[in-house]
Amino acid sequence: MKIIKSNKELEVLNSKKLAFVPTMGNLHAGHLKLVSEAKKLEYEVIVSIFVNPLQFGKDEDFDSYPKTLKEDKLKLISKECDYLFLPKSEELLNGIHQETSKYNNFLCGIDRPEHFNGVASIIRKFLEIIQPNSIIMGEKDFQQTLVIKELIIKHNFKCKLITIPTARENSGLAMSSRNNYLTENEKMQAAKIYSTLVDTKNLIFKNGFKRKDLKNKINYLKKNNINVIYFDLFDAESLESINESPRLKGDFVLATAAKIGNTRLIDNIVFSI
Ligand code: PAF
Repeated sequence: MKIIKSNKELEVLNSKKLAFVPTMGNLHAGHLKLVSEAKKLEYEVIVSIFVNPLQFGKDEDFDSYPKTLKEDKLKLISKECDYLFLPKSEELLNGIHQETSKYNNFLCGIDRPEHFNGVASIIRKFLEIIQPNSIIMGEKDFQQTLVIKELIIKHNFKCKLITIPTARENSGLAMSSRNNYLTENEKMQAAKIYSTLVDTKNLIFKNGFKRKDLKNKINYLKKNNINVIYFDLFDAESLESINESPRLKGDFVLATAAKIGNTRLIDNIVFSI
């Protein structure tokens, strides 16, 4: 695996077919699944590790975000990753364009006000300098995937977005670097987030969409010390919240953000009826 640290070194890759997996490091099985999917495209695979300051609010965990570069490198080598891009902050952020996304003020954007604009800005820069043929992202960050899709269309990047189903622990808990902040007990608690999403989805298929059912599920999570930030059904394209209906039809995302202690977790189920 070749390590690349500057924009100049990236230039030699410009003629190659590349599949790009952007990350903030502290790699887990979910990230490695993205790399394996990228390998299947038979392009060369480039992974970036960069903790992007633009997407963190001032009271968030930017400074304490887990850094495990040595382990990350070994994991990527085991997956036969071709290139690891470790950009220098000054070079990457120099002259960066401030992006605005139409999804910035929905779902996670409500309690993380500049988050998605920060994600869009950094991904735009990556797409400009890496020029990948594909970008591979996880479905756990569903809203983020919409932001990237919007960005690709807006700037006419010749890059295909490929989304991969969320990798989960045996308990159902969505894999996330932030799970590292949880104790074993809290991890068991956190598994209730996914099981509640599944139960809610099943109820919607059975009874149609009732706000009362949703409220009961939120109360159940709260009783289990899960501090729900939002838990709702949204249109999978516009992210508008959905009204009650005995018979839904369309593409939806049942999505939640919740805190256990100080740890903010997200999860979702995407489905069509
Ligand atoms: O999902 C992430 O880890 C980050 O938001 C990303 C896509 C690497 C941009 O910094």
